[in-house]
Amino acid sequence: MKFQGSDNYVATQDLMLAVNAAITLQRPLLVKGEPGTGKTMLAEEVSTALGMPLLQWHVKSTTKAQQGLYEYDAVSRLRDSQLADEESSTKVRDIRNYIVQGVLWQAFTADQPVALLIDEIDKADIEFPNDLLREIDRMEFYVYETRELVRAKHRPLVFITSNNEKELPDAFLRRCFFHYIKFPDADTMKQIVDVHFPGLKQELLGAAMKTFYDVRNLPGLKKKPSTSELLDWLKLLLAEDIPLEVLQNKDEKVSVPPLVGALLKNEQDVTLFEKLVFMQRHNR
Ligand SMILES: Nc1ncnc2c1ncn2[C@@H]1O[C@H](COP(=O)(O)OP(=O)(O)OP(=O)(O)O)[C@@H](O)[C@H]1O
Ligand SMILES: [Mg+2]
Repeated sequence: MKFQGSDNYVATQDLMLAVNAAITLQRPLLVKGEPGTGKTMLAEEVSTALGMPLLQWHVKSTTKAQQGLYEYDAVSRLRDSQLADEESSTKVRDIRNYIVQGVLWQAFTADQPVALLIDEIDKADIEFPNDLLREIDRMEFYVYETRELVRAKHRPLVFITSNNEKELPDAFLRRCFFHYIKFPDADTMKQIVDVHFPGLKQELLGAAMKTFYDVRNLPGLKKKPSTSELLDWLKLLLAEDIPLEVLQNKDEKVSVPPLVGALLKNEQDVTLFEKLVFMQRHNR
């Protein structure tokens, strides 16, 4: 099993190496990087490229590790116990009817090897990763209610993404292979744009990329625009048929780009950018 990138996703050499290293080590691949740099999409693309179904677990601030294993649905059982019919009373007697399998259980018991995405692990509280150590290591867990051990038939290929909102515990990190998706350089970015907008005119692309990197490299920005923002912005430029001249400046000076709301996401950043443009104009 080797990942070589895909038609929809531009993977740099070091990203491919990281994916393959995680496969070889049979350890989860922990992917970090700025928002919008393709962390979630990586799991989707690798699983498609390797022909594995993808099970996704999107973590929220309230998510508990146990929910990924199984949950006991006591409410349904109580409700069934109040119904008088034959079917319900036989169902109620067996607790297994009320054990709801979580994503990890499904991944462990799938008939073929699957990929498992644990997305945005840093959203949950600090106990969350700690509570999954054994499951990730041994690929098994115990169901106390039914006294059964669920063990992985095939080791799933695990992707874990984080936006760095919280530090992950060392014991958890030890079990992962780590990769940081660096912000794409101009060449890689061109390839990414090409995947989404094949046949885009080179002049337009060049001018848009220049503006994009000018905005991005502005010191002091609160939120730098990333890949997905550039793609949104290009989509708008094409939809609105913005002429090339609006983006190109003969005097090489920066100007506020059209539809800047696709790139800058708060008023401080827009003000900062406008100030820069204003200062440049007056320094001529
Ligand atoms: N390497 C890439 N190749 C092709 N498209 C990409 C690439 N990186 C990012 N994109 C585009 O950017 C979008 C955002 O990617 P994705 O949702 O995977 O980002 P993310 O890193 O998970 O962001 P977040 O941290 O906000 O969840 C994708 O839908 C895709 O269109
Ligand atoms: Mg994501």
